[in-house]
Parts: sequence; structure tokens; C-alpha cells
Amino acid sequence: MEMKLKNKITKCLFPAAGYGTRFLPVTKAIPKEMLPVLTKPLLQYGVEEAIKAGCGTMAIVTGRGKRAIEDHFDRSYELENQIDGTSKEILMQGIRDIVANYTFSYTRQVEMKGLGHAILTGQILIGDEPFAVILADDLCDNVHNDTVLTQMTKLYEKYPDKCIVAIEEIPEEDTNKYGVIAGTLLEENLYSVTNMLEKPEPQDAPSNLAIIGRYILTPEIFDVIKDTKPGKGGEIQITDALLTLAKQGKVLAYKFDGVRFDCGSIDGFVKATNYFYEKVSNE
Ligand code: G1P
Repeated sequence: MEMKLKNKITKCLFPAAGYGTRFLPVTKAIPKEMLPVLTKPLLQYGVEEAIKAGCGTMAIVTGRGKRAIEDHFDRSYELENQIDGTSKEILMQGIRDIVANYTFSYTRQVEMKGLGHAILTGQILIGDEPFAVILADDLCDNVHNDTVLTQMTKLYEKYPDKCIVAIEEIPEEDTNKYGVIAGTLLEENLYSVTNMLEKPEPQDAPSNLAIIGRYILTPEIFDVIKDTKPGKGGEIQITDALLTLAKQGKVLAYKFDGVRFDCGSIDGFVKATNYFYEKVSNE
């Protein structure tokens, strides 16, 4: 019997259990997803992108020491009571609207066993339907109308049996920081993936097209992850699980329109801060 895939993406999974060691000591007691770019935490940018793409449910895979995330996406009666009717009220408007209109669900990843494992941990929140994944440290901004995730969900409606990864061209010497793909061009900016490797050294990289933290995944991925052996760094890699599906012609790579900052690095974080500061200053 052929299964009909639901081709509307309504849930977005956010892996958010990592320690953020590159930002120590600030990440000792503050989740790295809560670090602010101007006045908004990184994760809120991701959530806003998911909302714009049509997602109503945010499925967040957290871990120990991440309670500030749940508090951020919740009411804060005392604070709201204090500022209601004052000039500060406007500063809370965005987050209040998010909390009032969208669903947040959480599960904890008890052991850090890689991104593939984090995504599998989120299965309980996603169920049997296609979903989006946003890695909040890859902070994206659109330069035209659609956000990066919206571009991808639109593409998914056209290719509802495929997984889609976002890619961008990187300098050749940086391939060992990313999942890297090889593929055949299907249409403008869209590749059918033939190979993908997690963090290959430049001499082993199949191209300079790197995966960035936006994925559309079909629920088939969960069983594939369960069968995926630990790879790079002894971790269960989503790249390796996707390679299994790529070999069956089921993975697309999309060169997105927009900008992206690697906020997992201090350099990228500072660049993002400057970029958004410029942007709001010009508004
Ligand atoms: C993860 C993925 C990698 C991808 C990257 C994008 O790596 O494993 O394939 O290119 O995110 O940011 P991480 O940055 O978590 O080490």
C-alpha cells in the first residue's frame, strides 16, 4: 500500500542540547541558544523563521541546564504586570505574541551522541510526519521576500518525497567544519545529492558545497538514524543517515537565497551582531 505523505510542514525541531563550549565561560549557566544578538536570543530568531515558514509547533530538544529556554517561551506574569502600560511594554510584544499563538514542546537529550541522535530524540515530539530542523547557531536572514526555511518548505511542496538540506559555497579550506555534498544539478540552485560526507578534510571533500543548519526531513529518517552507526567524532551524524537516503535518490540540496552567520563561532557571532545592528539602525 502506498503511503500518502502529508506535504505541509507544521513542526520545526530545534536541537538545543549542546554545551556551547566555544563560548565558555558565558555558557556555564546560560544555554548558548539564549545568547543575544542585540536584544533577542539566537533561538528566538530561529523560532521566528519557523513561524514565517508556517510552523505552528516548535519541538525543542534540550538538555541539562537549559531551563532558561522554557522560561523564555512562556508567560512572565510578574514582569508583564510591572511593565504593562509603560513605555517598555513594546519591547515584549514580539515574544508575547509568539508565546500566545504557538506551541512549544520539549524533550531532553540525556547523552550528547551527535546531531543525528538529537533529531532521533525529537521523534516523540514530531511523530509520523515531515518536519523542519533549524540549528539556531546558523543565524539566517533573507535578503528578498522569503526566509530560508520558507524557500525550503515551498520547495518541499514540489518534491514531497524528498529530504532537503540547505547548502552554501564555502572556502575550500573550511570543508572540515561542515557536512559537504556532491550532486547533480536538477534545476537552478537545486541538486540531487549523490554523496555527502561529514566534515571531510579539503583533499577528501567532494565539493565546496556545505550543509548549513536548515533541513526538511521526511519521517523515514527516524528509522534510518536508528540503523546509522556512529561516524565522525564517534557521534551519530545526520549527514550519514541522509547519505543512506541520498543513495536512493531521496535527498535534495538547495542553495538558498540569503545570508547566514555561524553563531557557533565568536567571529560569526560578532558579524551577526554587527549585521543586525546595521539593519535595525536603518529601519
Ligand atoms: C552540524 C552538522 C554539519 C552541518 C553543520 C551546519 O555540525 O553535523 O553537517 O554542516 O551542523 O552548521 P556542527 O556545526 O553541529 O558541528
